[in-house]
Parts: sequence; C-alpha cells; structure tokens
Amino acid sequence: MKLTAAITAVGKYLPPDVLTNADFEKLFDTTDEWIKTRTGISERRILKDPSKATSFMMAEAARRVLEQRNLDPLDIDLIIACTVTPDMMFPATACLVQNEIGAKNAFGFDLNAACSGFLFGLSTGAQFVETGRYKKVLVIGGDKMSSIIDYTDRTTAILFGDGAGAVLLEPSTDGTGVLDHILRSDGSGKDFLYQKAGGSLHPASPETIHNHWHYIYQDGKTVFKSAVTGMADVSAEIMAKNNLQGQDIAYLIPHQANLRIIDATANRMGIDSGKVIINIGRYGNTTAGTIPLALSDAIEQKLFKRGDNLIFAAFGAGYTWGAAWVKWTYNT
Ligand code: UT7
Repeated sequence: MKLTAAITAVGKYLPPDVLTNADFEKLFDTTDEWIKTRTGISERRILKDPSKATSFMMAEAARRVLEQRNLDPLDIDLIIACTVTPDMMFPATACLVQNEIGAKNAFGFDLNAACSGFLFGLSTGAQFVETGRYKKVLVIGGDKMSSIIDYTDRTTAILFGDGAGAVLLEPSTDGTGVLDHILRSDGSGKDFLYQKAGGSLHPASPETIHNHWHYIYQDGKTVFKSAVTGMADVSAEIMAKNNLQGQDIAYLIPHQANLRIIDATANRMGIDSGKVIINIGRYGNTTAGTIPLALSDAIEQKLFKRGDNLIFAAFGAGYTWGAAWVKWTYNT
C-alpha cells in the first residue's frame, strides 16, 4: 500500500492576553458591530511579553504534540516552521524551536507563504514522509502578528491576532493522511498585501520607520475579492479532482481571515455551515496559525472520526492559496 503522511497529533498555543473589539473602540473610530458584521471577529489573543516571540509559541505548540504522542524530542527528524513573523530575519525560527524543545536530531527550515504557510508546510512535510526518508516531521504554523500591526490603522489592526499550532506527520499505510493538495501562487498580488520594509529592498532606516513601512499594509477590498474566488475555486477543484461531493466531506478547515470568505467557500463546496470549523470569533487571523489552531479546537471538541474526509483551504499574501484533502487517521 502507498506510503502516506498521517497527522498523528495536534497541539496549540495561544497567549493569555485578550484584545477585544471594545478595546479597539477606545483606540480609534470603530464599533464592535462593524467588526463583527464585516469580519466575524470578537476578540484576539496577543503575546504581550516583549521577551517572547513566534518561536516561543511554536515551541509550546510542539511540546503539546510531543506529550500527546509520548515522544522524546530526540525522535523528531524535521521541523518546518511556517511564519511571516520570524523572531529574527535569521537564523530560521525552526532552528530556535529545535533548540528550545531539544530536538537535537532534527533539521529545520522556515517556510513563508503568509496565510497559506501551514498548508504549503503540510504539503512539503508530507513529501518528506511519503518518500520514506523521514518518520517524524513537525509542521508548525504560527505568527506574532501584533509585532507588525499598526495599531493606529483601523482597517488592518482589528483583523489579526497571535498564536501557533503544530501537527506531527508520520508514515502510514492504511490509506489515511494527506492524500492530495493543490497549491498556487500569483505574484501580481504583491501590491495588495505586504510588509514593505525590513527586507533587502527597504532595509530599516529613519524613513521606513517614519512611513510605517514595517507594518502590514492591506488593500482589504481587493484581497477580499481574490480570496473569495481563490479559496472557493481551489476547494471545488480538489473535490472534483478526487470525485468528492459535498456529502462526502466531514469538515472544511479553512484559513480564518474573514467569516464571509469562509461562508463563500463552504457554499461553493456544497457543504453546510455545521461542517465548517470556525474560530475566527475568538482568535482573529493568526496567519500561518489559523488552520492548525482550528484543527486543534475541533479535536478538543472530539469532532473527528477515523476515515473522515477533511478539506483544508487557505488564501494569503503573495498571493498564495491552495487546498489539501486529508483523510483523518484517529478517533478524537
Ligand atoms: O488572510 C490574508 C488575506 N486577507 C484577507 O482575506 C482579508 C480580506 N479583506 C477583508 O476581510 C475585508 O476587506 C476587510 C474586513 C478588511 C474590510 O471589509 P470591507 O467590507 O471590504 O470594507 P471596506 O474596506 O470596503 O471599507 C468599508 C468602509 C470604509 O469606509 P467608507 O470609505 O465606505 O466611508 C472604511 O473606511 O468601512 C470603513 N472601515 C471601518 N469602519 C469601522 C474600515 N475599517 C473600519 C473599522 N471600523 N475598523
């Protein structure tokens, strides 16, 4: 039987501090009503401790995975850290996580596909397992979005939160695991969602700081339109490619950027809202963290059974987008 990469454990970390819509009402001209209606978000978590960053949240999520499978950190072969908010430009956040959890036998690298980061990381990690080369691969998605948010910009500040989620991939021959994925990029989206400075084009300078170029910029309306089409199209495409109908799908686990984008994707897939894992209300958009956090929440609610067909779907900066078909491995 074909070797597949099964998800055998899922862990998460959310920082304790909560930033509510009411807090934003005190910062700028907005309302709880506007934020909830336009995005579905009520609150988000913020990592306030200035001495901690993305690697801390990722290491915490990874530790929970190790506990679940009762593993020694030395058992881990590979760590893929998916993020747009690395602790530093280099070294890779994956190396910091590796050191933090004591996974001395693992190699690691970072993967930047913005909000599609976890999906791209999952597909990448699955390849390493499917070849038979590695047996225990940690794929971690997480972002400290509060580190790149302009809290005077009401159009983006309300959207994002901090958090991380991790999965363990292990080889399987029982037909479950990551069965297919479709990944896409379109670099012409570069003008609509970006963090302009801090890279080699615009290194930090008084000018970049003065112009707020170290913060996220998003043309929300333009990204929204592309996200609705991109996420819905690719989800429908992966279903058609694998002869899956709406009734065959147990759950959609979508990137959590906007409730209206999620609803449009579910409609297009022909699945009802009860089969969609949604936690945007509590965490906002945690970028590469959203899908593993949603997965973790669903597992805590014991929603999945062995053999369930799950579709993961995401859309993000780049543009990057895609979908994965996962046949779930264990009863939760
Ligand atoms: O995860 C990566 C991918 N990102 C996404 O998928 C996000 C995609 N975009 C979105 O989710 C939505 O476009 C937003 C939630 C960002 C914005 O919602 P929208 O329905 O597209 O609103 P808009 O940008 O068209 O703005 C409508 C109005 C504007 O006022 P005027 O020009 O009509 O007078 C904005 O200035 O809402 C105003 N507005 C706000 N009002 C109250 C913008 N932000 C706020 C705010 N509170 N926080």
